[in-house]
Amino acid sequence: MSELRPPAAPRRHLLAIGDLDSVDVERILETARALAASLDREVKKLPTLRGRIVVNLFYESSTRTLASFELAAKRLSADTMSLRSAGSSVDKGESLKDTALTLAAYDPDVIVIRHPSIGAPQLVARNTDAHIVNAGDGKHQHPTQALLDLYTIHAALGRLEGVHVAVVGDVLHSRVARSLVQALRIVGARSTLVGPPTLIPRGIEALGCEVSTDIATIGDADVIYVLRMQAERMAAGEAFVPSLREYTAEFGVTPERVRPGQVVMHPGPMNRGVEIDPRVADSDVALVADQVRAGLVVRMAVLYDLVVERPASASGTTVDVSGEGEFFPALAGSSHGEVS
Ligand code: NCD
Repeated sequence: MSELRPPAAPRRHLLAIGDLDSVDVERILETARALAASLDREVKKLPTLRGRIVVNLFYESSTRTLASFELAAKRLSADTMSLRSAGSSVDKGESLKDTALTLAAYDPDVIVIRHPSIGAPQLVARNTDAHIVNAGDGKHQHPTQALLDLYTIHAALGRLEGVHVAVVGDVLHSRVARSLVQALRIVGARSTLVGPPTLIPRGIEALGCEVSTDIATIGDADVIYVLRMQAERMAAGEAFVPSLREYTAEFGVTPERVRPGQVVMHPGPMNRGVEIDPRVADSDVALVADQVRAGLVVRMAVLYDLVVERPASASGTTVDVSGEGEFFPALAGSSHGEVS
């Protein structure tokens, strides 16, 4: 007798990289590549999310993440609204819940949230019917950054499996590092975290990475991924390094420390002259601008994937942006052309 199984439930949220498996990651990256190809052609705006509402709720400062989510939603023809509360001392429990309930009254399809507290996206998920995307919660997770980094590495090196990434710097305060290590593991890549012992959390190897306190280790990697010194996450008076000058001397990524064939990445914002030498940041081996560009198509792909795609159609479905196929199932029957 054949086993009867209920169809897979649609994935509701992107709260952490752990929400995804390798099929999900591959599908999102494929969608992003298809979108990039379509944006390279004359079509700059797609009707995919016409009539949908995407809200960006940012309780922490942001340049590229907020800008790219806004543009991603607009390129997919969604109505967007961005709320920022940078600098205010909003109560992180009740008032976030109240904000979520207020927003829920407008029936948003997606809420993208960045918040200094770990778990804030989950709280919003519990209090609205929207799909939630975590755009960074404290030092916990930043899943769309990890996806755009995978996209960038794949575009530069032509593969992900077996790639070795050395992540250098302030790992302790970095949601980027945590998400990236997990994402690399999902796609069969390797990572080594490099920095002073005070900035590498104890037991982080459990995420599936190696750890080194010797900057020379970066010589073994294909990709040097530089992290910002996140002073805003260090309590006043806490000293994780003797001085920034000494940190730079010991761990700064300088031209002398980059060997031929390696590429260098940084999630931004960069502290030039601290964690990264300007000569490296401005060189051809730096993929920082590629990361920013990838951020747009990957965030478009994530919005598309949550709102339109269904896991049941994941395996074997190729994404078609030609306008002939199924890229816009939500709009089946309508024209797939450019929206003015
Ligand atoms: C990162 C962040 O905010 O987590 N930046 C980003 O999203 N591009 C990293 C950082 O702030 O250093």
